[in-house]
Amino acid sequence: MPENLLTPESIAGAAYIVAALLFILSLAGLSKHESARSGVTYGIIGMAIALAATIWLTFAGGWGEPSVMVGLVLLIVAVIIGAAIGLWRARIVKMTGMPELIALLHSFVGLAAVIVGWNGALDPPALEGPLADIHHAEVFIGVFIGAVTFTGSVVAFLKLSARMKSAPLVLPGKNVLNLGALVVFVGLTVWYVMDSQLWLLIVVTALALALGWHLVASIGGGDMPVVVSMLNSYSGWAAAAAGFLLNNDLLIVTGALVGSSGAYLSYIMCKAMNRSFISVIAGGFGIEAPRKGDEDLGEHHEIQAQDAAELLKNASSVVITPGYGMAVAQAQYPVAELTQKLRERGIDVRFGIHPVAGRLPGHMNVLLAEAKVPYDIVEEMDEINDDLAETSVVLVIGANDTVNPAAAEDPGSPIAGMPVLRVWEADNVIVFKRSMASGYAGVPNPLFYRDNAQMLFGDAKQRVEDILKAF
Ligand code: TAP
Repeated sequence: MPENLLTPESIAGAAYIVAALLFILSLAGLSKHESARSGVTYGIIGMAIALAATIWLTFAGGWGEPSVMVGLVLLIVAVIIGAAIGLWRARIVKMTGMPELIALLHSFVGLAAVIVGWNGALDPPALEGPLADIHHAEVFIGVFIGAVTFTGSVVAFLKLSARMKSAPLVLPGKNVLNLGALVVFVGLTVWYVMDSQLWLLIVVTALALALGWHLVASIGGGDMPVVVSMLNSYSGWAAAAAGFLLNNDLLIVTGALVGSSGAYLSYIMCKAMNRSFISVIAGGFGIEAPRKGDEDLGEHHEIQAQDAAELLKNASSVVITPGYGMAVAQAQYPVAELTQKLRERGIDVRFGIHPVAGRLPGHMNVLLAEAKVPYDIVEEMDEINDDLAETSVVLVIGANDTVNPAAAEDPGSPIAGMPVLRVWEADNVIVFKRSMASGYAGVPNPLFYRDNAQMLFGDAKQRVEDILKAF
């Protein structure tokens, strides 16, 4: 092979293609339970190759030069500090804290894109004519997307970690404000491309920071899943924008993969939450419907573990619909044991998983897989909803919003229109929770007052263990 083909750029380029393919394999793997583990492995290998190639490309050609060596040492120190913090956080984070950690990580991507953009403006490459115009547009768009992602993710982090109230901020004419900001951004971009003055970049940075903050602050509790996946998408586009500025093909490809898969996830979420995708992108969403006051929903009925066990023994079919409370209680292990016991008695047991049950996409599936519940009895909401009317007993384990009949029956409810598991159609419903408190969206749940529903109060794990003892 001729020697000049083996330049640092060509070798890094080849490594980037391999890494990009591994990222695609990773995404494909992550789309199914069975292949998720290998998907994660592909992602780790791809990222290791990408990192090694980028570091090598940055320093190749300058080995031994003092300035290059200082840069290398700084980079190694930064990687060690970053990796140590990352490992520490990843080890201590609880599964229920994952969404807020992810939101925080998205904010770093946004901030990085802003810094890369500003660097591109303050230390521009020697370009002229149309190429310089393209560079200016890249700077401006990169800073805008990055800044929206940054503050949006910070607000999402604050809301998800309950450091900020989850109720939506309702400024007068909020949709007009959001759309107005987008129009101003387009106008400023054209201006900046024609005349790249620094004050325009300052204005767009401030505008985008305010827009990101407002977009997410306007979202109510129940819509947060859509926001998190949307910010995931934005962080991908922010990374892609940084890739254009840094002339790094892999960053562009990876950013586009994250951006488009995040957008697709947002689309799925919107469908699951019955929200319009276009209105989400335009930022014109959130809870607009008036919240209902404390109306009298009637009397609730209580059941004890012993009686619940009797009811289960006599059932022919059982559907378990887990929610966030199962994750909090870590009840998946006794739930798996109960499932096994019931199946041994010849009772048909299946799980019904709502797309936004818990606090992150696939939350319940991960917990059930952890507890070794067979995949083939874990069904999606759409697959199981029509069978609920023929089910003897539904066990609602720490779920609330995802089984709330108000979403289907009360047009005035803040969660009206959100598809839910129609558990109330079953012969009997047992609700495992600690109190009569509302779920994440803060909406009262009429299910608890239905004649066929009984409350089994207490920590879900303890109560399921009590039922196991009663068996
Ligand atoms: P939620 O509506 O959040 O309700 C969970 C229920 O679990 C609570 O009412 C709580 O009642 C109960 N609980 C808490 N700890 C418990 C424990 N140790 N033992 C027994 N029960 C316990 O749950 P869901 O039905 O899964 O709905 C998810 C909600 O989160 C939706 O509103 C969704 O939009 C939102 N959200 C979802 C995501 C994603 S992507 N999945 C992300 C962000 C937000 P008590 O306090 O009375 O026990």
